[in-house]
Amino acid sequence: MAVHSSQIYFDHAATTPMVQPAIDALTAQLLKTGNASSLHSTGRSIRKELEEARESIAKAAGCSAIDVIFTGTGTEADNLAIKGLYWLGAKAGKNIIITSTFEHHAVMDPIKWLQEHEGATVIEIPVSKTGSLDLTALQAAVTQHGAKVAFISIIHANNEIGTVQPIDQVVKIAGGIPVHSDAVQSFGKIDFNFNQLGLTAATISAHKVGGPLGVAALILKKGVNIEPVLHGGGQERDIRSGTFNAPGIIAFASAASNAMIHMQARDAKIRKLKSLLITKVLAAVPDAWVNGQSENSLPGVVNITFPGSDNEGLLLLLDMAGIACSTGSACSAGVHRPSHVLMAIGLTEDETTSSLRFSLGESNTEEEIDKLAAVIASVVEKSKSAANKKVSK
Ligand SMILES: Cc1ncc(COP(=O)(O)O)c(C=O)c1O
Repeated sequence: MAVHSSQIYFDHAATTPMVQPAIDALTAQLLKTGNASSLHSTGRSIRKELEEARESIAKAAGCSAIDVIFTGTGTEADNLAIKGLYWLGAKAGKNIIITSTFEHHAVMDPIKWLQEHEGATVIEIPVSKTGSLDLTALQAAVTQHGAKVAFISIIHANNEIGTVQPIDQVVKIAGGIPVHSDAVQSFGKIDFNFNQLGLTAATISAHKVGGPLGVAALILKKGVNIEPVLHGGGQERDIRSGTFNAPGIIAFASAASNAMIHMQARDAKIRKLKSLLITKVLAAVPDAWVNGQSENSLPGVVNITFPGSDNEGLLLLLDMAGIACSTGSACSAGVHRPSHVLMAIGLTEDETTSSLRFSLGESNTEEEIDKLAAVIASVVEKSKSAANKKVSK
């Protein structure tokens, strides 16, 4: 696997290079023709491989093959879960959604849409300064509103700060209310087991684990028959119509299996690099601080505030120095808006726009961390004088 540019790539949470087994699987599939829904033997042969891929992904995610519904993206799977579970609940007179203050936009925005267009009531559970869900507030919301709650959606590992939420406890508190979790950043990187967690629905995406872009899955417990968003050929339990992306799905399965095999070794390597990055960057910029880390965090994601700087300026200056990182999630990076995740853990608006996310992957090295450490102080100084922002801590 490789990053196809000479840049030092610290943006693996946005997307990470495809792993070789996934590249091999994809290449082999692209040379084949056949619609996996066709009844002739060409179609049946692709379908067989696709169903084997579904089995592999189910094994990696700790669910049954029947629970796996393939989609085009994680964003699509999140939208499908949020709207589908809401509409299912609404049929039984339930119009409350419980979620957190630091979900990904792919969860937050369909929830907002349901609030604006379908009369949903939304309860947002706060998170602590270290980036952990307030379980007491969750318990109180469930106790008070339980009978009217359509579903609960809590992110498993946050994409901007990397903290991991105790989904098993969320499910316990939910006491039978359906729970969805966005596991796009956690799947394949840390333990994630759908059945053991007791989830009703979860979202995973191939391009975050070394698979191709444009293929993902909603894991939805068999028997939970949500309304589709797309109507058409009736594929995927009639929940997600559309011709199967067999090459993408088969390559996704290769990436998922590869991630499971190498998880422990990869975890140890990347955590060591992250801790080195934190130590060296904080030594170079003593007034910088790390946001929301806890014991229970993703191995490779770290978010750092450089007070007084402007993160867009920082990003561009680092880019010129040959280093790629991010101002937050890739989606909010396109539009320069303060990160709702960082605000949820207590940063001021000014501090959120002085923060960068570095996300590490398999291809990173200690030498690359050293190169970052060598330039970060001067880059921050340049950005500060350009931004001329008041330092607020
Ligand atoms: C936590 C989380 N959820 C959902 C998504 C969206 O996934 P996709 O890029 O497959 O649409 C992302 C991507 O950045 C993510 O980090």
